[in-house]
Amino acid sequence: MSDRYIDFANSALGHRLVGALGLPSPVRLERWQAGRLRPIEGALLLGGGPLVAPIAAFAHKLTDAVYSYASDAAPAQAWIPGHGPRLKAVVLDASALTSVEQLKQLREFFQPLLRNLDNSAHLVLLGRAPQSLDEPFAASAQRALEGFARSLAKELRNGATLQLLYVGAGAESQLEGALRFFLSPKSAYVSGQVVRLQACATQVQDWSRPLAGRKALVTGAARGIGAAIAETLARDGAHVVLLDVPQARADLDALAARLGGRSVALDICAADAGAQLIEQLPDGIDIVVHNAGITRDKTLANMTPEFWDAVLAVNLQAPQTLTQALLDSGTLADNGRVILLASISGIAGNRGQTNYAASKAGLIGLAEAWAPLLHGRGISINAVAPGFIETQMTAHIPFALREAGRRMSSLGQGGLPQDVAEAVAWLAQPGSGAVSGQALRVCGQSVLGA
Ligand SMILES: NC(=O)c1ccc[n+]([C@@H]2O[C@H](COP(=O)([O-])OP(=O)(O)OC[C@H]3O[C@@H](n4cnc5c(N)ncnc54)[C@H](O)[C@@H]3O)[C@@H](O)[C@H]2O)c1
Repeated sequence: MSDRYIDFANSALGHRLVGALGLPSPVRLERWQAGRLRPIEGALLLGGGPLVAPIAAFAHKLTDAVYSYASDAAPAQAWIPGHGPRLKAVVLDASALTSVEQLKQLREFFQPLLRNLDNSAHLVLLGRAPQSLDEPFAASAQRALEGFARSLAKELRNGATLQLLYVGAGAESQLEGALRFFLSPKSAYVSGQVVRLQACATQVQDWSRPLAGRKALVTGAARGIGAAIAETLARDGAHVVLLDVPQARADLDALAARLGGRSVALDICAADAGAQLIEQLPDGIDIVVHNAGITRDKTLANMTPEFWDAVLAVNLQAPQTLTQALLDSGTLADNGRVILLASISGIAGNRGQTNYAASKAGLIGLAEAWAPLLHGRGISINAVAPGFIETQMTAHIPFALREAGRRMSSLGQGGLPQDVAEAVAWLAQPGSGAVSGQALRVCGQSVLGA
C-alpha cells in the first residue's frame, strides 16, 4: 500500500507547505535496485583506529571513491571538510577509545561531516563489546558508544542511518559482509541498531551471489514480507522452497515458478507438520526463515481463548517445533542459518497485542537461548524485528494508528517488505554466522521499544 503523505511531502508544493507548517518531511529512501553491483555509489570516508586498516584492504570493492579523515591507518586520499565531496558512507572505528577524554573524538569526528552527507547516507561506528573488556573504564567508554550512536541516529536527516557494530576478536574478517549491508541501500530502513559480530569460519565466496549453492525454506511465502524474502534470497543465488497454507497454493505456485523454486502447501500448525516438512526436504536445508505469522488483536479483557491460542500456535509454537524437528532429523545442515520474524511489538509491547507480542518476544528468547547451543555446528539463529512495514497486515490498521505507526520513527515513514527481506538475506549469508542470538530491528528507529 502506498504512503501518499511521502508523495505529497516530496512534491514542490507539498515540500513548501510541510516546511511552513513544521510537519514531518520524510524523504524517499534510496533502495537497492536489481542489477546494481557496488554497495556504495559515492564517497566512503574511513576514520579512527586499528580496524580501518582491514577495511581499507577491501574498501575499493565497495566504491572507487575512498577517503580518510582523522586516521593514520587508511591509505586513501584525505577528506577536507567543506572541500571534499558529499559523503555517501562513513565508518569511524572507535574501538580504541578507552576513556572519557578520548570520547570527545566522537564529536570531533562527526561534527564536520553532518552538513556534508549525501541523501540516504549510511554511517557505521565500530567498537569492542564492553563485556569483552576487563578494564572497567574502557568498558564504560565502549558502552558510551551505544548511547551516542542511538542519539546521533535520531538527529540524522535526509534518510541517513547509523549503526554501532561491536567487533569481537577474530570477527574482523566478517566486516566486509556487514559493511556491504550496513553501508548500502540494503539497510535503508535499519537505523540506531547495535549489532555484535563474532568470529565465523564460513565466508561468502561470490559477492554478486552470496547465497549460491544454498537451499532456503521460507514459511508464509505466498505474499507480503515472505514473498519479498523468497525473491531476495533467490536474487542472491539461493534455491528457494516456498511454504504457505494450502488455501494460498495458487499464489505460492506462481511465485515458486517465477523464482525457479519449489512450493510446499502446508499448515505449519498441522499435527504432523514436522514430519511432512522433513519429507519435503530430502536433500536437507541450509537456511530456514520462519516468517509465517498472524495477528488476532484484542485487549486482554476481551481476548478469546481462540485468538490467544491461534497466534501463539502459528507465531511461536510452530517455529519451535519445526526447528526442533529439522535439527533432530539432521535436515538442517551444519553452518545453517535460522531467521525468526519477530516484531517491535515483542520488544516494546503494544496495546491490544498481548498474544502477538508474547509470541514475538518468545521468538527473540528462542534465538537467544538456542544460539550458544547451535554454535558448535556453525549454525546461527537470529530474530528480525520489523517495525511498521507496508503490507496487507498493516493496511488493515485504522487510519490514525496507521499514520502514527508510519511517522513515529527517525525515518518518518513505514518500511517496505524489501527492507525486511534484505536484512534476512544478509543474516542468511555464510559469513553472517558472525551474528547469532540477536534481534535486528528493521523499523527506521521507531520510537516504540527503542
Ligand atoms: N507487516 C508488518 O508491519 C509486520 C511488522 C512486524 C512483524 N511482521 C511479521 O512479519 C511476518 C510477515 O508479515 P506480513 O505482513 O507479510 O503478513 P501477511 O499476513 O501478509 O503474510 C503472512 C503469510 O503467512 C501465511 N500463514 C499464516 N498462517 C500460516 C500457517 N499456519 N501455515 C503456513 N502459512 C501461514 C499466510 O497465509 C500469509 O501468506 C509475520 O510473522 C509478521 O508477524 C510484520
